[in-house]
Amino acid sequence: MYKVIDGKALAENLRSDLKKKISEYKYKYGEDIGLAVVLVGNNPASQVYVRNKIKACEEVGVKSYAYYLPEETSQNELEDLLHSLAEDKNIHGILVQLPLPKHLNAESALKIIPFEKDVDGFSAENVGKLSQNAQCLVACTPNGVMKMLESENISVRGKKAVVIGRSDIVGKPMAMLLLNADATVTVCHSKTQNLKEECLQADILVAAVGKAKFVTADMVKQGAVVIDVGMNRDENGKLCGDVDFDAVKEKCSYITPVPKGVGPMTITMLMYNTYIAALRSRS
Ligand code: GUN
Repeated sequence: MYKVIDGKALAENLRSDLKKKISEYKYKYGEDIGLAVVLVGNNPASQVYVRNKIKACEEVGVKSYAYYLPEETSQNELEDLLHSLAEDKNIHGILVQLPLPKHLNAESALKIIPFEKDVDGFSAENVGKLSQNAQCLVACTPNGVMKMLESENISVRGKKAVVIGRSDIVGKPMAMLLLNADATVTVCHSKTQNLKEECLQADILVAAVGKAKFVTADMVKQGAVVIDVGMNRDENGKLCGDVDFDAVKEKCSYITPVPKGVGPMTITMLMYNTYIAALRSRS
């Protein structure tokens, strides 16, 4: 028997808890917690993500500052905005929605965000601190996955974890969090040989590939915990993950669905990071 981990319900619980904490913060300090969200251009997926982030701010009581910049924004214009947000005492978190239009240099722009306000956890400081298992702001999606495991009391310690995908946003920080939690971690990617055999070793299998139904039942060990970070469309245009859910679920002890799995946790962890950034700005 398998259990489906309900990311939507967990996210709602965490947000209501966060809402209370944020209201206590506002009472204590007499000021709002501020998150700046910067979107350049008209990427439709990015527009949806940004809208959802702003909605989540309203829900938990974070004051959002949305900057919608036109596609033709220059590097200087973007960087000037980021410099002013970096200095603004009312802004505790800064998020630049990725990808940026092709003519812009994301690396150079993101470097302007002070690591204390880097609520995406993308900066070299935060990534470095994560690898040292030190206090930092952790990338939202992998942080959300860890919260999902904790919520089900799934012990990671000493387990074999396999992460498929090595992106800076998900795969690498996911592997580091699992390692920090004492798992034995393997990171697989497009050049990995014997992918199926590697995956079959996993007590905990995290799929962050970006390919619909990439993980099939023959790749999953009986009793494994399967976490699906994917967000794809299948051949009928229906939202689906990186895992072939219907076939794989029978082999799992736990599995996350798409939608209503990891997705709702990501934005919740963004709210959490913004709260943490505000708290740390006071200490
Ligand atoms: N684009 C896709 N995922 C993300 C994310 O987690 N943060 C930002 N800033 N942009 C993204």
